[in-house]
Amino acid sequence: MKRSNAPGTLQDEDQGDAKKRIVVLASGRGSNFQAILDALSEGSIHGTCVRLISDVPGCYAIERAKYSRVPVTVVDYRAFSSKSDYEKALLFAMKECCPDLVVLAGYMRILGNDIVRSFHGKIMNIHPALLPSFPGLHAQRQAIGYGVKVAGCTVHFVDEMMDSGPIILQKCVPVLPDDDEDLLSERILHEEHRCYPYAVKLFCEDRLKIEGRTVRVL
Ligand code: GRF
Repeated sequence: MKRSNAPGTLQDEDQGDAKKRIVVLASGRGSNFQAILDALSEGSIHGTCVRLISDVPGCYAIERAKYSRVPVTVVDYRAFSSKSDYEKALLFAMKECCPDLVVLAGYMRILGNDIVRSFHGKIMNIHPALLPSFPGLHAQRQAIGYGVKVAGCTVHFVDEMMDSGPIILQKCVPVLPDDDEDLLSERILHEEHRCYPYAVKLFCEDRLKIEGRTVRVL
């Protein structure tokens, strides 16, 4: 990412502490994406969101990207005749951005192994449960159904299995007696919007070190 500069000057991207290039994948309303955009615009994350990639044309995350002048690529799942063709197109779109970090922000598909391996240790996800409890869909509904007293969210690196990679951060919330899925989801989402930008910030400051299943925060 060299750019021509006036003689004797260096721009951000040429310096040793270059801003990290962040690509976000989202399929829906994008409130976590927005929380990260807000933290970027406040300057609390040493990074740049270089692109939003979405598999759902017309999703609200795309509106958020446009409002913040983040370039958008739509890789419409329905336009491909197989999952493998879709994944190839997605991988191509991701590689084109040369990301340092890929952030899954409500991306509702399971990433294929080729993609996970291509960006090993560089893909983050947020899940609305305290993993390893309640992986998969409807985590908040699962938590209510199980009768747990504490729920929460988990930010983790992505590996080849679903919701299973090394855990970066977790935050708890209480489950209250009258909670339903919506009330609990709202309480968890509030914490997600604090946790996810913080995890991205730590990554962008090179403060996350993966040691087996453990992520050390330096
Ligand atoms: C969040 O609850 C997140 O934990 C899960 O999907 C939801 C996405 O919400 N992975 P939003 O699109 O970020 O508002």
